[in-house]
Amino acid sequence: MTRPGQLVTFEGGEGAGKSTQIERLAAVMRAAGLDPLVTREPGGTPAAEQVRQLLVEGPPDRWLPLSEALLLLAARYDHVVRRIAPALADGRWVLCDRFMDSTRVYQGVAGAVGEAVIDRLHAIVLGDLRPDLTVILDVPVATGLGRQGKVGRQRYEQMTKAFHEQVREGFLALARAETERCVVVDATRPVDAVADEVRDLVARRFSIDLGGAAERP
Ligand code: TMP
Repeated sequence: MTRPGQLVTFEGGEGAGKSTQIERLAAVMRAAGLDPLVTREPGGTPAAEQVRQLLVEGPPDRWLPLSEALLLLAARYDHVVRRIAPALADGRWVLCDRFMDSTRVYQGVAGAVGEAVIDRLHAIVLGDLRPDLTVILDVPVATGLGRQGKVGRQRYEQMTKAFHEQVREGFLALARAETERCVVVDATRPVDAVADEVRDLVARRFSIDLGGAAERP
């Protein structure tokens, strides 16, 4: 049996514009009469937001790699059980700023934990739950980190440029491996152009009317 709600996740490196694009998609969905839950990871529940603070603050070596992965998965479990799964079961769309693929790429590919361990942890934490669609917003590392400049240098932004290059490559490799679920969007373009592409691809993928070009005859 398929569950009624749809889970759409947004992924990408630093400064790719995920939160802006999620808000834009949520706005067109609301205009179309839908009531999406907009949420983020790490975070999305009071407990998971507290874990987020532990992860995004402090020096890059604050956590041992596996401890960091376990903290992320602890936060994800809380978020899924308390917020995402109930919303999906109610038939709501869930738009999530980062999800399992961030852990696969940041901790699994670019970090020291390895993808096999992350996959095993996800099997425990997520069971069969997977995003219905994952939008990967792609920008060159220098562009993304440059955009982040104004919001301050948090823990992950202090990782080396090589780390961030591996993150970018990791997301692109994931998209090549999971072509059904993942779509790469060139996020170097103006916000409006990216938002139109995201709206049209969601409308086409789920055969819904979001008032864009995709539905015009
Ligand atoms: P944000 O800046 O997109 O809100 O994400 C916060 C940071 O957390 C970002 O630098 C990436 C990092 N992160 C991971 O390393 N692994 C994860 O699983 C998630 C969800 C985020």
